[in-house]
Parts: sequence; C-alpha cells; structure tokens
Amino acid sequence: MIWCIPTLKAERTHLRPFTPADAPEVELLAGAPEVSDTMLGMPHPYPPGAAAPWIANHAERAADGGEFHWAIVRKADGRLLGAIRLTITTRHARDDLGYWLGISYWNQGYTSEAARCVIAFGFDELRLHRVQAGCMTRNPASARVMEKAGMRFEGIARGYLKKHDHFEDIATYARLRTDPSLLRKDEARELMRGVTE
Ligand SMILES: CC(C)(COP(=O)(O)OP(=O)(O)OC[C@H]1O[C@@H](n2cnc3c(N)ncnc32)[C@H](O)[C@@H]1OP(=O)(O)O)[C@@H](O)C(=O)NCCC(=O)NCCS
Repeated sequence: MIWCIPTLKAERTHLRPFTPADAPEVELLAGAPEVSDTMLGMPHPYPPGAAAPWIANHAERAADGGEFHWAIVRKADGRLLGAIRLTITTRHARDDLGYWLGISYWNQGYTSEAARCVIAFGFDELRLHRVQAGCMTRNPASARVMEKAGMRFEGIARGYLKKHDHFEDIATYARLRTDPSLLRKDEARELMRGVTE
C-alpha cells in the first residue's frame, strides 16, 4: 500500500507534513541543548543545513508505510512548535512514537494532544495493534505525555541506551487497540517509583 502523510486536525494544533520552508525553524527549535538532551537521535549542535535533507526524506519514508513525520503547528497562528513521528513495524502491527517540541512551547499540553491524535491515526487508519514509546527515566515530561495519551507504563530497561557517555534507564509505555482506559497519573507514578527504587 502506498501512503502519503495526511494532515491531522487536533483541538489546538494541526499535524501536517513538513515543507522545505520549515527547515530554518526546525534547526532553531531542535538546536536547543535542552531538546537534544533527552533524545537519542538528535545531534547537538544541530548541524547547519541538516534539516532540509531530513525533511526531504519524509515522503519516501511514508510511501512504503514505514515512517510518518508530522510538523506540530499551532492552529491559532500557524507557528511550527515541534515534531512527532510514528515508525511502523508492519509485521507486528506495531509502531514506535517519538516527539520533540521547541522549549518555549513546553508544558502547554501540545505534545499530549499531538500524541493522542497520531495514536488515533495509527489505530483507526493504519489498523495497528500496539503503539509503544520509551523515555529516559530522567524525562518525566515525556512519561507524562505518554500517560496522557493513554499509554501504560510497562517497565524499565536499565542502562538500555548510552547518551553523553552515560547509560540511561528507559521507561517503556504502550497502548493496545483493545486497552479499555487510561492509567491514572498517581497509579503510573507509583508503578514507576516501584521499579526505580
Ligand atoms: C517531552 C516533551 C516533548 C513534552 O512536550 P510538552 O508539549 O511540554 O508536553 P505536554 O505539555 O503535553 O505535557 C507535559 C507534562 O509533563 C509535566 N511535566 C513537565 N515537566 C515535569 C517534571 N519535571 N516533572 C514532572 N512532570 C513534568 C507537565 O506538567 C505536563 O503534565 P500535566 O499536563 O499533567 O501538568 C518536551 O519536553 C520536549 O520536547 N523535550 C525534549 C525532547 C524529548 O525529550 N522528547 C521525548 C523523547 S522520549
């Protein structure tokens, strides 16, 4: 099946394909050390000129159904806020979710809204069975995004990734199409505390 990246409409944001004109803003937003610090694949300093080929690659990645990247754009003023992606493993009807947002837009609920939107796309349009994501345990904002998107805490892989010469513990969250309801915030915190202590 051939896929293109659809525009998805959430309450306060649109998720749309990136365009070449977004490249300078991507470099500015993703270039902040605070953004790259808790991401594995984000280089820092962000290499000048790297956003354009990254964006140019998106259509091809989506065409075979393998990966969907969206620009998170604020409806009110059209500002580019950040990015969200789904990476599909077709054989297992599963996808991995990833996201980042420019610092000045943090803690306003934008990523949680975007995550709920792409998860719905994954279940409804791509007919996926499982959506999963992981975050460093020192990244509670990302853990909270996953909780607010209805994903359940599944456990911690200790020393799973190496970043800046440190091994990072990774908390894994997932949601199945068949999951009935969200895990309460205090329940998830309790579970996570139980594993890390
Ligand atoms: C993770 C990230 C995308 C979150 O984006 P965001 O738009 O700020 O997320 P939201 O506003 O939707 O939700 C953030 C939640 O985390 C909470 N939070 C933020 N910092 C926190 C902290 N230090 N401790 C506990 N909770 C925290 C917020 O209060 C909010 O929860 P609430 O709505 O229940 O109050 C953003 O911080 C980011 O881009 N970080 C750098 C890149 C990154 O880490 N990407 C994810 C890799 S796994």
